[in-house]
Amino acid sequence: MNRQLALELARVTELAAIASGRFMGKGDKIAADGAAVKAMRAMFDTVDIDGTVVIGEGEMDEAPMLYIGEQVGSGKGAKVDIAVDPLEGTNLVAKGQPNAIAVLAVAPKGCLLHAPDMYMEKICVGPAGKGKIDIDATVKENLTALSIAKNCRISDLTVVILDRPRHHDIIQQVREAGARCKLITDGDVAPAVAAALDNTGVDMLIGTGGAPEGVLAAAALKCLGGDMQARLVPHTEAERQRCQEMGLENAEDILMLDDLVKGDDVIFASTGITDGESLTGVRYFGGGAHTQTLVMRSKTGTIRFISATHFLDKKPLIKDFFQW
Ligand code: FBP
Repeated sequence: MNRQLALELARVTELAAIASGRFMGKGDKIAADGAAVKAMRAMFDTVDIDGTVVIGEGEMDEAPMLYIGEQVGSGKGAKVDIAVDPLEGTNLVAKGQPNAIAVLAVAPKGCLLHAPDMYMEKICVGPAGKGKIDIDATVKENLTALSIAKNCRISDLTVVILDRPRHHDIIQQVREAGARCKLITDGDVAPAVAAALDNTGVDMLIGTGGAPEGVLAAAALKCLGGDMQARLVPHTEAERQRCQEMGLENAEDILMLDDLVKGDDVIFASTGITDGESLTGVRYFGGGAHTQTLVMRSKTGTIRFISATHFLDKKPLIKDFFQW
């Protein structure tokens, strides 16, 4: 994939964030999501790729845009698979809470796991923890391994977990092991990424969340040299069948980082919608908006934080998606 593509993709998440951020705190997650989807779709049309959405807003009959299988881009460039979550953390925007992002990953055809919309068990760490985690080990064993790798005490580590009844046991184990715990209401992609960035105050993400979000997190961790292990959690026979159609003979197989994102040519981009550990949210001013975007390529390992100021009168496309 052409390296210029990274910047083009940053524009895609920027526009989704600008459109969606207007709905912060308004209590309408559907409208916030709809704005992000429309904006992301429109900007994709300006990008020279021959892309297929493999992780998107749902199946063709349930999503008008960015549905799985939809072709996006001008059709002129490389054949790529695309994973998108135009608004990751719909409730977070609706309530004005931290860590909502617009996010996508792009990789050569066949390189992103076509994860169906089901749950996935995940453990995510940064570069220090690479090769040290084991999804089948106890929480304490994983924390011990990470603390040794980071040359710190378990009590110095912060673990992010979705605050759900299904995680009662994990939360208990983290507390008993002595680590600090950050319980979040939604949005497990941003903290998975934060676990692999310096000085974010996040060392590990653990627990069960969405499988599509897991693939997006894996793309970021591949770029950052971090690590992740995962396992799909099918609840119904239909979900089990989906796993088999994906080529997973045993739905409960452990998925390593390379199973989630194959090869070493993935681009990840995310723009903050609300403020978070690693990205500030969209800030609006009379006539425009400031955004912050993280864009990375696994091939080179370059990590770029792009702070941008957008002026509406000079960017007709942005103006179209700027809800007053
Ligand atoms: P949205 O689809 O509303 O953006 O929610 C995203 C999310 O919070 C993910 O970050 C997380 O993986 C998943 O939902 C958790 O699912 P559940 O809310 O069912 O526990």
